Amino acid sequence: MGNDLLMIPGPTNLDHRVAEVMSRSQIGHKDPKFIESFKQILDLTRYLFVNYSGIPFVISGSGTIGMEAAIVSFIEPGDKVLCADTGFFGKRFVDLTRIHGAKVRVLPSDLGKHVDPKVVDETLSEGGYKAITVTHVETSTGLINPIEDIVKIARKHGVYSIIDSVCGVGGCELIFDKLGADIVITCSQKVIAAPPGATLLAVSKKAMDIIENRKTHIQSYYMDLTRWKMFMENPKMYLATPSIQVLFALHEALLLVKEEGLENRVRRHKNIADAIRAGLEALNVEFVVEEGYRANTVTGFYTPHDKAFDIHSMMRDRYRIHLAHGLGDLKGKILRIGHFGNITPRDTIAVLSALEISLKAVDTTTNSIVRIGSAVDAAMPYLEKIIYK
Ligand SMILES: Cc1ncc(COP(=O)(O)O)c(C=O)c1O
Repeated sequence: MGNDLLMIPGPTNLDHRVAEVMSRSQIGHKDPKFIESFKQILDLTRYLFVNYSGIPFVISGSGTIGMEAAIVSFIEPGDKVLCADTGFFGKRFVDLTRIHGAKVRVLPSDLGKHVDPKVVDETLSEGGYKAITVTHVETSTGLINPIEDIVKIARKHGVYSIIDSVCGVGGCELIFDKLGADIVITCSQKVIAAPPGATLLAVSKKAMDIIENRKTHIQSYYMDLTRWKMFMENPKMYLATPSIQVLFALHEALLLVKEEGLENRVRRHKNIADAIRAGLEALNVEFVVEEGYRANTVTGFYTPHDKAFDIHSMMRDRYRIHLAHGLGDLKGKILRIGHFGNITPRDTIAVLSALEISLKAVDTTTNSIVRIGSAVDAAMPYLEKIIYK
């Protein structure tokens, strides 16, 4: 178990420094050590999002808590919301906005296709929208949406943007202070490479102002961002018992992000993603996502001969390398490689080599096109760009 390599899109492999923090003895949430650590987490969260203009939030709970806190706090019943639906997690925003009483207009995209900013522009021209929701990186396929263009258009129309960057922040470029979005959400178990259990948000002052001056009460206790704002300002107060170990681990993981440097981390993710894509191309597999919109953090590909389950099991049972299945209707048709967090060139070579062998093994046709060594060979020029300090 100890040597398993997680190449799933979260949770991901922990650095030993992060894992060690988890085994410290329990302390209380009023302990000055915890309170000091939480304050530093908030500073590091500003660094991660490049959010020096808005408010950072760190809340115990998974990424979905962050999404729902954004929606239930910002959207009032009857508000008109445009939800860009580019897949499984785009649909989650549709569900959340509906549950919390918004009038939702869904902007669907074909599988693996990005949100077209022109269509967003046309739709928002109808007027009356309060917000748009967009998934930055759609983890179910590996798609990255052009959020800079979409946010710019939303601002032109006076519409607020709520961005799910659970699978983006830290690995794909996102500079909150430059982007102009109103709420951006991520969580601990993705690019930050901490264990699951914390969600992190960047909220603009304008959006916070809207939240604090709503006409109706926020229909949630735990996900009410006005309560959490008080906690962010004064972590000594009690709101709900925080996931102390997870937050200590998050602190250590964020320190590692800062030690690497945000720009270097994004560059490493880009080089690894280029290597994975070149490797998959050499293996002649088909990507789920159109060219030009493939994310640096996760890649979905169709499995030849409908052998997703066989390839997945072989990778896991023989090589202890874990890939992820497709979600929903894509289960059994595609596999996904999560390549974020602490992923190294060595991990990339391991996953590509094991994939070469597994693809060849399931290909029972006489003229197999899988050539052992071809994926690693194609990946090397990108991996050689990664220099360890
Ligand atoms: C893009 C995206 N949004 C939201 C979520 C939900 O996060 P969680 O599972 O931590 O609730 C995920 C999880 O994989 C995700 O990839």
